[in-house]
Amino acid sequence: MFISDCLGINEAGHLTIGGVDTIMLAEKYGTPLYVMDEDDIRRSCSLYKKSIDKYYDGQGLVTYASKAFCCKEICKVAASEGLGLDVVSAGELYTAHEAGFPMEKVFFHGNNKTMEELTLALEYGVGRIVVDNLTELAFLNTLARSQGKTANIFFRIKPGIDAHTHDFVRTGQIDSKFGLALETGEAMEAVKEALGYENICLKGLHCHIGSQIFDIEPFEHAAQVMLGFIAQIKTETGYEIGELNLGGGFGIKYITEHDPVEYDSYMQKVSAVVNSTCKDLAIKRPFIIIEPGRSIAGPAGITLYTVGAVKEIPHIRTYVSIDGGMTDNPRYALYQSEYECLVASRAGEPREKVVTIAGKCCESGDLIGEGMHIQDVKPGDIIAVLATGAYNYSMSSNYNRIPKPAVIFVKGGKDRLVVKRETLEDIIRNDL
Ligand code: LLP
Repeated sequence: MFISDCLGINEAGHLTIGGVDTIMLAEKYGTPLYVMDEDDIRRSCSLYKKSIDKYYDGQGLVTYASKAFCCKEICKVAASEGLGLDVVSAGELYTAHEAGFPMEKVFFHGNNKTMEELTLALEYGVGRIVVDNLTELAFLNTLARSQGKTANIFFRIKPGIDAHTHDFVRTGQIDSKFGLALETGEAMEAVKEALGYENICLKGLHCHIGSQIFDIEPFEHAAQVMLGFIAQIKTETGYEIGELNLGGGFGIKYITEHDPVEYDSYMQKVSAVVNSTCKDLAIKRPFIIIEPGRSIAGPAGITLYTVGAVKEIPHIRTYVSIDGGMTDNPRYALYQSEYECLVASRAGEPREKVVTIAGKCCESGDLIGEGMHIQDVKPGDIIAVLATGAYNYSMSSNYNRIPKPAVIFVKGGKDRLVVKRETLEDIIRNDL
């Protein structure tokens, strides 16, 4: 009945998440409120893990892309499910470290890591640093030498794949700020340079073609291109790359019409291509890494809001104002992303109204969605926006000095606070 498996309706007609009444949660913790079902997160982690183990004979690792949703608690969940972690900043790295995440299973990404970030990564002993460009490579070698260490690196490669997704979340094509291009010879140059550096050990290659992708074909194509490059490196240098990170990007269901690929069938099809391509190219099958973010955190989350004014503009539209908006979910403002929403206390009733959900910022573009179907909605109602577990909390801001909402995890029918709601004191904490 709902787009995410973790949602349901109880006898009172209220929306539940992980079996917990959302109206009770709104009363207990206030709104806006992010609620995530830990069991759902764990189910996704474990599906990915089982699948990669099965199709790559235990020679693979699922890393959770923490940019989708990052706090100490989810790092602990990912660690306990046996996953690795993708981090892209000192902030994400520090969070993982403070959560006790095993540093050897951390991949540190980013197209412009700072000196402080690379120093921290070496100090913590992160498993792999995914080097984006030649400037970073030379710099990292010097830094590692000064610390008497060897940096285990991957190269971020642009495989030249044009995945069909929103322009802002496409990354695999040549015109991208991320990584090294194959076509221009820049990637091969980087490999040769890395092989000559004393304090660098080139472990693998990485690509990520984009996000919210529904087709399997671009992933298969990317795998072929990357393996082709591994074979070319072997021919030109004699060095055989042992690890390949194929990135994340698997689409999820935000609205009923979305039809995402099952994790298992993605893994099965891509592994078949990996196996046959390695055979054809006469190379050893590398250890395979994938890094899903959205598909682990997204479906597990919802956001609860309290409705304020409902403004009906005759023959034009109805604005339903909520106590949050682009500060806790900027995705409609940024990408016109679609969401489903409902009145949490009447979750089972038909959604016959068509409304625009508007946030509280001084900005006309502060909308959660337009043309959204919802039940008859009144001031004081709690509404739930669905599938907000990824890229909502992690992309939230304090625009208009609005404090960030709390995050609640539910598990086995129980709820617990995992990130406190920001207070007004938090808002001026750094003001002098
Ligand atoms: N690996 C790398 C190197 C990435 O850049 C990303 C996402 C992922 C993995 C995880 O991709 P996922 O499985 O979550 O699709 N803010 C945008 C999404 C940006 C994605 C950035 N990179 C949004 O809200 O849709």
